[in-house]
Amino acid sequence: MGIVIRDTSVMTVDKENRIIENTNVYIHGNKIIHIGSEYDGFEGDIVINGKNKLLMPGLINAHTHLGMSLFRNYADDLPLFDWLSKKIWPLEAKLNKQDIYWGSLLSMAEMIETGTTSFCDMYFLMDEVVRGMEESGIRGVLTRGIIEDKNDPDSKLNDSISLYKRYDNGLDGRIKVMLAPHGVYTNSPEYLMRISDLAKELNTGIHIHLSETKQEVEDCYRQFGRSPVKHSYELGLFENHTLAAHCVHLSDEDIEILLDNNVYPVNNPGSNLKLASGFAPIDKMIKKGIKVALGTDGASSNNNLNLFKEMNLAALINKAVNLDALSVSANDAIRMATINGAYALNWVDEIGSIEVGKKADLILIDLNGINYYPRHNLESQIAYSSNGKDVHTVIIDGKIVYKDKEFTTIDIEKVKYMADCQIKDLLKR
Ligand code: NI
Repeated sequence: MGIVIRDTSVMTVDKENRIIENTNVYIHGNKIIHIGSEYDGFEGDIVINGKNKLLMPGLINAHTHLGMSLFRNYADDLPLFDWLSKKIWPLEAKLNKQDIYWGSLLSMAEMIETGTTSFCDMYFLMDEVVRGMEESGIRGVLTRGIIEDKNDPDSKLNDSISLYKRYDNGLDGRIKVMLAPHGVYTNSPEYLMRISDLAKELNTGIHIHLSETKQEVEDCYRQFGRSPVKHSYELGLFENHTLAAHCVHLSDEDIEILLDNNVYPVNNPGSNLKLASGFAPIDKMIKKGIKVALGTDGASSNNNLNLFKEMNLAALINKAVNLDALSVSANDAIRMATINGAYALNWVDEIGSIEVGKKADLILIDLNGINYYPRHNLESQIAYSSNGKDVHTVIIDGKIVYKDKEFTTIDIEKVKYMADCQIKDLLKR
């Protein structure tokens, strides 16, 4: 099985940040095997014309709650805690397997359509997310969100262990499983330490919400006399590979701790704006050498799963906040959405850039749109002029899942219809 993409422009996002014009990319099985002129002896079953298109690494959405797509536009314009406690949590308590399956599949479709090939999800009933991944062909890290329940401290941990044992490295290596303490305000120190020990035992990573709101930081100081970052560090959480979603309210000391411990912050600019959480010091972290990834958060606090929009927001917001037009360049934003996401998902050996030997997770963008003319700088075009609707073809793990702007794996009309039915049914339950 081979695919050749001919006569295309390639944005490698490798160390040299190369843009290669008029070249060919060869895929055999699930890997990129050659970039350049003719590859002798290669028989491509599928040939894709890459003229006037850009091939770039598939985007990596490093913080999602896929099932929450059912709540898109259901509860907006509320502060984070009211939004969660009055609107979201009561509905989440009633979610069943069918809801999660169709909600997650709707999310996967939206991600694929806008060029995302991998995600890191924090939610529950994760078997249904696996079903969606099997159907759609997407790659992802699954983490069962853990909010401590003092009356039943074991069941969510057991869910996580079972998820890890059944699915880590599953679907031909398309799945990783990590542990997800929801936050430092929803889990006691003792319980966080228990989760950290379990991560070590399973030799896996941690996915947590950290320093998302000012309130969270103030409460943590009041209760424990230290910031959420320092609190997590002191409890030993960062001895594990850690993805920390948000990281909005950070002191200089917090930033040093994240740097020294190789923690991967995930910037969610759309969600932080919409929930009025604040502005994360992304430029400062990038300049220190921290690999900041990019995420959308759930579709009810964004309200899209479109990383092109997030790249644009990340690049624009930091300039205005820092009164510095050099803050978060187009290249920084692209790296956040690709290679830095691969670092965050602990998958950098296999995805995040276009290099021979890496997995073929690739997107081809149609550059015929008016917004791409005149043609000066491809990185600027992606970060400032794209809208995510120009994704032409998506390849994940060497398989075409979206071609000529049509899904090849998902029955999208059925997914839209079923997602609508599920939320209507849920609201009546
Ligand atoms: Ni979140």
